[in-house]
Amino acid sequence: PLPRPFTVPLPIPRAARPVAPNRYELTQRAARVEIIPGTTTEVWGFDGTFPGPTLELRRGTPVTVRVRNELPVPTSTHLHGGVTPADSDGYPTDLVVPRGRTFRPHGMHGHHDPSAWTLHPEAKDYVYPVEQRAATLWYHDHRMDFTAPQVWRGLAGIAIVRDDEDDALPLPKGERDIPLFICDRAFEEDGSFRYPSLDPTLLVRPGVEDAYMEGVQGDVILVNGAPWPVLDVATARYRLRLLNGSNARRYRLELTGGARFVQVGSDQGLLAAPVEHTALSIAPGERFDVVVDFSEYPPGSEITMVNTLGEGGTRAVMRFRVARRVRDDSRVPERLADLPPADRATAVATRVFDFRRTRHDSHDAWTINGVPYRPGMPVAEPRLGTAEVWRFASDFHHPVHLHLAHFQVLARGGREPEPADAGLKDTVDVRPYEIVDVLVRFDGYRGRYMLHCHNLEHEDMAMMADF
Ligand code: C2O
Ligand code: CU
Ligand code: CU
Repeated sequence: PLPRPFTVPLPIPRAARPVAPNRYELTQRAARVEIIPGTTTEVWGFDGTFPGPTLELRRGTPVTVRVRNELPVPTSTHLHGGVTPADSDGYPTDLVVPRGRTFRPHGMHGHHDPSAWTLHPEAKDYVYPVEQRAATLWYHDHRMDFTAPQVWRGLAGIAIVRDDEDDALPLPKGERDIPLFICDRAFEEDGSFRYPSLDPTLLVRPGVEDAYMEGVQGDVILVNGAPWPVLDVATARYRLRLLNGSNARRYRLELTGGARFVQVGSDQGLLAAPVEHTALSIAPGERFDVVVDFSEYPPGSEITMVNTLGEGGTRAVMRFRVARRVRDDSRVPERLADLPPADRATAVATRVFDFRRTRHDSHDAWTINGVPYRPGMPVAEPRLGTAEVWRFASDFHHPVHLHLAHFQVLARGGREPEPADAGLKDTVDVRPYEIVDVLVRFDGYRGRYMLHCHNLEHEDMAMMADF
């Protein structure tokens, strides 16, 4: 039986502890954890936890994360939102293969060239320079053709980059700065995760049953790995780092009791100025950094975060219970950060990417510009240090994500961007039959990176491309 909503306390994932200065080790392994009270679920987690340990990063302090794979399948780990050299970026065919396993590269979309695969036995060191602004990032599996089931089983965690500029603001801090990793899952009666894989060993045949072509959703909403949790809060402002880690579910988040979200940051950190929302739509991969003020609510009040796109169990997300009075000297300043102007004229090229379902070898695939993913065949070769306008078109909901490069939304549906499009982003929700223009800056490193749909089933079904 599922728990009554708002009875399980909100967990806060523990911070990853360095094994040496600026060195971390995360072991991917199976573990049984209690998600639904009274039963256990086998997760595949970083250090056996879901979400994994939070990586606390500081701008200007590079770190090395050794990922050791003790699972029965290969993995690739990507720091989503990270400005990372290509060989540490979690390329889908750059795999860590568990000890004692032989792994034969294969794939859903024709015969991959074996030279396109790099196999690391047991472990790999991922190097993150962290030369980037403070922001809420996350890390997750990125294995070719099997990202969706491997993330569903638990291979994901939060990463927070902090810097002096963000620290200097009078925003809520410490215990009032809380990451909320939101995702949906479904469960079998025995407590195990339910997922419609064609091959539950995840070793041979990729893909999901036809009925799940549009993506896999669950009927239980988890926040930081707990079903519909409750958090006791004080009469104060809280900074909530909302992250949609779902495979395919979009949420429209609202607070009951007239509470509002004051957005201070997006995927890539602080906005220029706060933006107030009564509702926030969040697509897979996106993050919104918001401040919620509970100071007007007397102790005993309950404020529920709901998903107005959901019904039944997927309508509830979590609850805040005002438990005590405190003095609060945090505030949200009128100016938050200096952002570069989003000036179309700085673009040296314009490219169009059409995200659409197309027919391929007598079956349907999710494609970009009609072409299913081919590792090693770039669809664009922008120059480091330049900016381009990328235009995304779609036939369905496709949250479009770019590795390495960050962007600003220039136009949505031929009109001005919407208030929630503000700031620097790495993932943008492209809605059915919509055209979204973004100004992308290619900074950081040369190399092979990816753009893809962050509906993870679409990604596995080939809606990905190299640039
Ligand atoms: Cu969050 Cu390429 O992914
Ligand atoms: Cu990414
Ligand atoms: Cu998609």
